[in-house]
Amino acid sequence: METYKRLLLANRAWAQERLDLQSDYFERLAEGQTPQFLWIGCSDSRVPPDEVTGTGPGEVFVHRNIANLVVHTDFNLLSVLQYAVEYLEVRHIIVCGHYGCGGVTAAMGHARLGLLNKWLRHIKDIYKVHRSELDMYDDHERRRDRLVEINVLEQVQNLTKTSIIQGAWARHKRPTIHGWVFGLKDGLLKDLVKVEPGAIVDEIYTYDFDE
Ligand code: CO
Repeated sequence: METYKRLLLANRAWAQERLDLQSDYFERLAEGQTPQFLWIGCSDSRVPPDEVTGTGPGEVFVHRNIANLVVHTDFNLLSVLQYAVEYLEVRHIIVCGHYGCGGVTAAMGHARLGLLNKWLRHIKDIYKVHRSELDMYDDHERRRDRLVEINVLEQVQNLTKTSIIQGAWARHKRPTIHGWVFGLKDGLLKDLVKVEPGAIVDEIYTYDFDE
């Protein structure tokens, strides 16, 4: 059997399982979504957000890209963020990186990867800022995994620099932003940071809100 056909077969089995548990499952699913969480994660196939958090359809709004970056000129991410915050009114945003991230590894190297180099440049810029700490690690893997953590912390900060987040904090006192890292070797999520609404943002990045 061709590999892709396995997916279609599994889908039929999954849909039937749902119906067996709850006959109106898909009617209710089709009515709309009210997820509490926005997940910003890496595209890596080994970190499926709903699987590792035990959530199901309707619970998590998801954006994924290589190395879970929050780039303030990325209209794709910003559209997802605005929709999640202003229309879905999510309570929590989770930026989730993962140890062993190929994107972070590539950003530490010097290979010519075309367009990818331009995307990963954002991580090189983070490395430069945190060089004094990162260069203390002789072990490449440890240095890479510390950069994975620092990258998550920086992306959480990048969210707080957006007018979307600052506006929602001023008007609605939400959302809370979390920085997590997933361990491929143990399957566990590490809780790195929690930033509550109204947290201090470096003043050069702040916008005026009347409300
Ligand atoms: Co990755």
